[in-house]
Amino acid sequence: MARRNNAFTVIAGCFAIIFVCMISTLSAENDGRDVKEAKKIEASEEIQENHPEVGAGVSCVDCHEIKLDAKTTATQVWLSGDYADFNAKEGMMSRDKIEKAIADVMGGKKQSKTCVLSTCVNNTPLSTTAEFTLDPSEMTLYGIHEKGTAKLFHIQQNPRVSINWHREYESFTKLLCIQFSGTAELIEGSDPEFEKNLKEFIPYEAQASARKISPDKCRTMFKQMMVGSRITVKEATITNVEFRKMDYRPWQRWTRHVSNKNN
Ligand code: HEC
Repeated sequence: MARRNNAFTVIAGCFAIIFVCMISTLSAENDGRDVKEAKKIEASEEIQENHPEVGAGVSCVDCHEIKLDAKTTATQVWLSGDYADFNAKEGMMSRDKIEKAIADVMGGKKQSKTCVLSTCVNNTPLSTTAEFTLDPSEMTLYGIHEKGTAKLFHIQQNPRVSINWHREYESFTKLLCIQFSGTAELIEGSDPEFEKNLKEFIPYEAQASARKISPDKCRTMFKQMMVGSRITVKEATITNVEFRKMDYRPWQRWTRHVSNKNN
């Protein structure tokens, strides 16, 4: 019995020593260096030799926020730098003028444009087409989309979207397009806002008459078949070569004010 007890004490003692060693090694590791943070980086940045290991299939944006907006240099020169016959800061439209120029192209309530909508999940981009109506007073886009489609799945996972409307290219002198980026929210047919947006923004009446059904019946049908989207535009860049005729740069950018309550 005494022997057994001794053996037990020895084994327990060994475990105790191992345990203490483990704890101290772990805490030594933690004390030794602080966990480094992945800072915001420029889009042009490259990995240096001392960079932590980046596994296969992992991309920079998984850890870093990338400073894209203000530093895309070519765009920045076109928007406000020394470009062609414009000196820096010359030829930029006022905010109101840009808003109007965008509304002139996109139309307003009860009008829509077929746009390319880009979404991204797990570093896999997807571009699809969808009709969008611009509410120029709020710089918000509204759409309705067939249920169960990939773009809706993408938006649920990641609401950040990029939308483009582009006039068919004929020549450089007729270039006209608008690029929006913003945040999308999905609105189910059962949500009262879905019907409100249909009535106020979406030109669904044309679809009703094409289907030879009443507007009421069409709305009921859409509430069952469709999901609505509301996209709060954060930034919109319009390219219109015609602006040059009015001594404006062909590229103009609208940005939602940070202080805006709808931001
Ligand atoms: C798994 C997460 C991760 C990924 C993926 C990653 N990084 Fe990093 N990166 C870090 C961390 C953490 C640091 C800070 C390391 C340090 O300070 O020792 C860092 C530091 C940097 C720095 C130095 C920034 C500074 O201001 O100190 C640059 C530049 C950088 N990364 C570029 C990149 C680029 C380019 C890619 C894509 C090719 C990338 N990283 C992918 C985690 C990551």
